[in-house]
Amino acid sequence: MDVSEAIKRRRSIRKFKPDLIPDEKIKELIESARLAPSGTNTQPWRFVIVKDDRTKKELQKAAYNQRYIRRAPVIIACCADLSAFKEFSVRVDELIESGALPVQTKEKFVPYLEKGMRTVKKEDLVTAGATNVAIAVEHIVLRAVELGLGTCWVRWYDDSRVKEILEIPEFVEVMALLPLGVPDEDPHPRPRLHIDKLMYLEKYGVGYI
Ligand SMILES: Cc1cc2nc3c(=O)[nH]c(=O)nc-3n(C[C@H](O)[C@H](O)[C@H](O)COP(=O)(O)O)c2cc1C
Repeated sequence: MDVSEAIKRRRSIRKFKPDLIPDEKIKELIESARLAPSGTNTQPWRFVIVKDDRTKKELQKAAYNQRYIRRAPVIIACCADLSAFKEFSVRVDELIESGALPVQTKEKFVPYLEKGMRTVKKEDLVTAGATNVAIAVEHIVLRAVELGLGTCWVRWYDDSRVKEILEIPEFVEVMALLPLGVPDEDPHPRPRLHIDKLMYLEKYGVGYI
């Protein structure tokens, strides 16, 4: 299956067969996440794989009782480790070493980032974490389609309760819960805005004909 087909076939799946998901498949999904791009290659994504029914029940409650959550054989809690951003200097070194960035990056870019990190607010790190982790999550979602699996992004939950249930430390934020399983439904495509509503030419709001 090519990327374009996976994009077209993907749906949010809210009905799952009870079939268990082999660990190799779960690892393949996380491997797709591992290959995602991230700002300064910070790779802040971390994943908690939940299979235990009691934990799933708790997560469902924390997600305002969205019922399909517990019925998924696996829930992947997709997290951002905000402390990863502190290691940008190591990541820049690795990028220079690999030939991805020029050597001058070290003296030009790193002091600028270091200065920014001294005054950065937690909410800015959360935004950066959300952006980076979202890309990794969508890699999982699309690879799941290719493996015949279904997922549904879930963002409507009580953050602090989910952190409590999964014993997630202070500096880590949960960006999404991803119920995962073999789909037991084949929904039609959901409505989308017309392309004219979201594509502009040169200036925002100028119609692209
Ligand atoms: C960031 C994000 C958060 C979402 N949160 C929820 C959620 O909490 N519960 C839910 O049932 N669906 C959730 N969804 C799924 C959307 O409802 C779904 O993507 C949208 O209706 C379009 O349907 P489709 O994904 O099948 O194309 C979320 C999707 C995204 C991307």
